[in-house]
Parts: sequence; C-alpha cells; structure tokens
Amino acid sequence: MAKEKNGYLSARESRRISKENRRIMGEYEKKRKRKNVDENEYLTTMHDKNNAVEFDNLHSYFFTDAGTVKSVDGVSFNVPIGKTVGIVGESGCGKSVTSLSLMQLLQRPQGQIVDGEIRLNRGEKAYNIAETPQEIMQDLRGNAISMIFQEPMTSLNPVFRIGDQVDEVIELHEGKGKTKEEIRKQTIEALELVGIANATGVAEMFPHELSGGMRQRVMIAMALACHPRVIIADEPTTALDVTIQAQILDLLRELKDKINASIMLITHDLGVIAEMADYVVVMYAGRIVEKGTAEEIFYHPAHPYTLGLMASKPVVGKEVDELYSIPGKVPNPVNMPDYCYFKDRCEMCLECCKGEYPGEIHLSDTHVVSCYRYYEEHKEEAAQKVNKELMAIASMAAKNDKEVAEDVK
Ligand SMILES: Nc1ncnc2c1ncn2[C@@H]1O[C@H](COP(=O)(O)OP(=O)(O)O)[C@@H](O)[C@H]1O
Ligand code: SF4
Ligand SMILES: [Mg+2]
Repeated sequence: MAKEKNGYLSARESRRISKENRRIMGEYEKKRKRKNVDENEYLTTMHDKNNAVEFDNLHSYFFTDAGTVKSVDGVSFNVPIGKTVGIVGESGCGKSVTSLSLMQLLQRPQGQIVDGEIRLNRGEKAYNIAETPQEIMQDLRGNAISMIFQEPMTSLNPVFRIGDQVDEVIELHEGKGKTKEEIRKQTIEALELVGIANATGVAEMFPHELSGGMRQRVMIAMALACHPRVIIADEPTTALDVTIQAQILDLLRELKDKINASIMLITHDLGVIAEMADYVVVMYAGRIVEKGTAEEIFYHPAHPYTLGLMASKPVVGKEVDELYSIPGKVPNPVNMPDYCYFKDRCEMCLECCKGEYPGEIHLSDTHVVSCYRYYEEHKEEAAQKVNKELMAIASMAAKNDKEVAEDVK
C-alpha cells in the first residue's frame, strides 16, 4: 500500500507507483494481445451446465497513479440460463466493473482482471473470460454476451441513421455471406421485436429525431440483434421517465422469454429488482455482502446493508417525515479497512465486528450473507443488538416492493 502524508502522495511515491503500474499493466496487456493461442489455455468447463455465466472469485483492479483501486475484490455468483439476476448496491460499489469484466470492456490498460474466473457457457464450449485473448473476445461480444448501456444518446452515433447503425452491428457479428438487403431485413425484424411500430421509417431517422424511450428501444434492438445468450442491462432505465421505464422493463421481460436468454440487471433501484429478478446479488465496496433468491432477499433480508438499502427507498402509499438514509459513505477503494467494510456505517454492529472481514454464512442453499451477526457463536449478542426501527422500515419496504412487483407481473 502506498505511503501517504495527510492523504496526499509525495511526487516521488507517485512516480514509483506509476512506474510499477506500467510494468504490471504491460504484462497483462501482452497476455491479452496474444495471437493464435491454443484453445486449451482459455477453454474451461462449467461447474453447472444450467448456468449461462459463473463468476468465481473475480478480482478486477485499476492501476492508477494514486494507487490500486480494488473495484471488484473476490466476487462469486452464478447467472442461470433463462433467469434474471439483479445486482444492486449504491453507486461506486463495483456493479458496472463486474459486468464490464464479463465483456472484457474495462478501461485499459489500467483496468485488468487480476484473479479469478468468469466462465461463459456456449453450449459445446465454455470460455474462461479472464484468460480469453482479445481476438476471441471480439467474436463473443454481441454473439454470446451483449450489453445495453446506461445512456442511449451517448451510445448511438448522432451522425448516422438508425438503420445503418443496427445494420453495422449485424454485419459485424453475423454478416458473413449476407447481402445488404438480407442484413437490412434482419435490422427491421430487430426493431419490430422491440416494439417499434414504423420500423422501416425509424430506420431512416437520426438518433435526435427519436424520444428517449425510442432510443432506448433501439439500443435494446442492437443488443439483441444477434440473439445473445446473456444480456447485461446496466441501469437501463435511469435516464427515462417512469411510464417509459415500465414499458422498457416489460419489453425486457418479454424478450428474455422469447429468446430464453439470461439477464444481468444492474440497478440501484430495488423496486426494479423486485419486479424483474429471480436472484439478487447485493454488492458493497467491491464485494458481495448478501445473495439469494428474490424471495429470500425481499422477505428475509439479512445483511444490515441490504436492510439499509431497503429502508432508504420510498414506499407507495406510506407517508413519512423523512426518508431513512444509510449514514456515512462507501469507503475509498484504494484504502479499504481490514475489518468489515460496512462497519463504519453499520447500525447493528457487534463487539466482534472489529475483527477481520466476516466470512460467508449459508442461511439456505441459495441464501448467503457475510456478516458476524449470523455466526452461531454471535447469534445471542446479535439478538440483543437490533435496530428495531430500521428492521421494521426495511421489512415493510421490501414486502411492499415484492407485492407491487407481483401485481405488475
Ligand atoms: N476507469 C476507472 N479508473 C479508476 N477507477 C475506476 C474506473 N472505473 C471505475 N472505477 C472505480 O471502481 C469502483 C466501482 O465502480 P463501478 O463499478 O462503476 O460502480 P457502480 O457501477 O456500482 O456504480 C469505483 O470506486 C470507481 O471509482
Ligand atoms: S459484520 Fe458487523 S459491522 Fe459488518 S455488517 Fe455485520 S454487523 Fe455490521
Ligand atoms: Mg455503474
């Protein structure tokens, strides 16, 4: 760890870090850019054939001049085929970095997968994305995994017509031997699939001629054009108004069933997760603090951070003077504490929480939490130290989310 004085690095220290970073990044880059690599170096086997993706102890770091940012630090979870996994957590917790790692789209050369495996199921073959060279990744992106980005206006090119942009995606991924007309036909089908009525007309338009909701539909059409097995939707509705948000979520749900794809849905909005997800992963400061089925997370939330997230969202039909907010901030990812990362904000901590980072406790086959309160030897103390108010608001909010979501479905 870098030595700091008053939180600032000396120029000398910063130069030393930067030199060391260049060396480390150089090594990773060399590995990425390998050509004609033997398949055995990056092919692997799925631990469970029913999973589309398995994240296994993933570590993704950024090597910056201010030190190593441990954005994702030991994350493991599965994305089953045909299911939606919701990833939730405050801003800066590593949700996007997790999904960008799967696409191998971390900002390079600073951003690198430094440890762990990401296994991607492609039927006959399974790829370990952490070891897959760049040239093979180009084929997997779009064909096997696809991403719907946060901001449709910045991801669509303003100077090209919609149809040409969708054509380009199809041409790049499965255009071999196809005529221009065949590709355009597929573009129109993709636009129709996402509910764009006048697809032929829209194909001739420029992005600025469309509303936010329509642009988001085009982004989804582009992501789905090549029938990917895994769709990553990173905050797909944040820039949209509520009615259009609902339409886009309906659309995603419908499409997922139509093409039996898996969705990794990233959002800070628990309402969206309740409505869409089969499984939920709660991330905090680069690690998973709790994961389980949507039922488990919403009806039996366990980690104090999950409770805090639930308590801090508005509940339909309930008037409150002031919304709950989790005290404090996410810790600085360059300098993580050596105890539970949530401790400085936790309103239910125990004497033992001063100790090392807590391990994983299984509350059921699927429900896992990293918190001392669930250790057998601390259960008694935990029962004494409960923030009843927080638990009550959280559980009401969670049930409300799940009930509203079931009505919507
Ligand atoms: N290109 C980058 N360079 C340095 N740090 C980064 C970069 N991208 C993300 N980070 C850091 O990684 C952490 C996780 O970021 P991110 O995954 O984007 O969070 P989330 O999507 O949960 O809001 C943050 O602390 C962020 O500052
Ligand atoms: S381990 Fe302790 S400090 Fe961390 S979340 Fe659990 S109770 Fe809070
Ligand atoms: Mg993000």
